[in-house]
Amino acid sequence: KNAQPLRGKKLIITAGPTREKIDPVRFFTNHSSGKMGYAIAKAAAEAGAEVTLVSGPVSITPPQGVHTIKVETAEEMYEQVLTNFEHADVVIKSAAVADYRPAQTSDQKMKKKDGTLTIDFERTKDILKTLGQKKKHQILIGFAAETEMLETYAARKLETKNADLIVGNNILIEGAGFGTDTNAVTFFRKDGTVTELPLQSKEQVAHELISEIDRLLRERSL
Ligand code: PMT
Repeated sequence: KNAQPLRGKKLIITAGPTREKIDPVRFFTNHSSGKMGYAIAKAAAEAGAEVTLVSGPVSITPPQGVHTIKVETAEEMYEQVLTNFEHADVVIKSAAVADYRPAQTSDQKMKKKDGTLTIDFERTKDILKTLGQKKKHQILIGFAAETEMLETYAARKLETKNADLIVGNNILIEGAGFGTDTNAVTFFRKDGTVTELPLQSKEQVAHELISEIDRLLRERSL
């Protein structure tokens, strides 16, 4: 068996949450720890790939031998991924990117006032969708974290984002999804086939994903 199936392949992997500022001391974010994306980056590097890891703010250490670019906002992640996209063979979007950001960011700390506070949000750019529109030879892998109708939404994401594979997190399963050391995922492929994997460590999930990518790259070169 080939120990380095991804030798010479260039991968972009995104990980972690984004932070969308409301003022100098406050931001909106989510519970992503970066563990899933970092495990994929490590497994990919071990498989011989040249890895660029675009990471939101997390408290874990990047794996060795990986080129790590730290970003904060969805906009910064978009810029870094797009800059590196042309020369990439595979992009894996395991980051939990904010869909909305505050429409205004205050330069000064917002002071409290009586009554309720209303904050307007605007949409961020959809990185995966943009890549889907621009892609040529690249293999595009998205994640889906849903609390309901995972199959329906995953199938829709394959279509609307022009992705080759969607990795659905079964986040209602105890020990799966955000923050945990384990995950339970389902692979949704373009050809309609589906593979549901058991709850296992994020490292094991990462290895399963590397095998899947190896298969996709072989198919492509046939
Ligand atoms: O970091 P951990 O604590 O280990 O947790 C891992 C995880 C649960 C965050 C990860 O496995 C995961 O599922 N990441 C994607 C979560 C998510 O935000 O899914 P989504 O359904 O909102 O987005 C779907 C896809 O579009 C994702 O690949 C996302 O990266 C991408 N996206 C979303 C919004 C946006 N503006 N641009 C994007 O590219």
